[in-house]
Amino acid sequence: MKELKLIKKENHLLNYEVMDNLHMEFIDIYNSVDINSNESIKSKAMALLVHSKNHFMKEEKLMDSAKYPRVREHKNEHNKLIAELEFFIDKSVSVFGMNILKSFYLEKLPYWFHYHLLNMDSDLTGHLKTSKLTQHKKKLEVN
Ligand SMILES: [Fe+2]
Ligand SMILES: [Fe+2]
Repeated sequence: MKELKLIKKENHLLNYEVMDNLHMEFIDIYNSVDINSNESIKSKAMALLVHSKNHFMKEEKLMDSAKYPRVREHKNEHNKLIAELEFFIDKSVSVFGMNILKSFYLEKLPYWFHYHLLNMDSDLTGHLKTSKLTQHKKKLEVN
């Protein structure tokens, strides 16, 4: 019996509530898989696809409203992951395809999640925090 390498919640907090909640939801779904069951891998991959569409849409709304400068690169990374998830879920009807979905789930997904948070999401939360501060300062100056 294989064991899943869990994604650790404490390593993935960005101290920005809306986004942290989304990331904890991703981790909950990811970690709840039974890697010895193909059905479970497939259904968790599908749940992660649904989750990610909503997760990315919410982040992208934040980017647009805060005039985030690296919006194109960030959205591209989101779109790439959605396309990959859809592709591998679609291919998983064959034994060969199922094995590819399994290795994608076990190796690529946690790697993607970790580095996306490190490079893209943390940059976005940094931008959101400073733009909130400037807005707050501007308000103080007006009043
Ligand atoms: Fe995110
Ligand atoms: Fe993101």
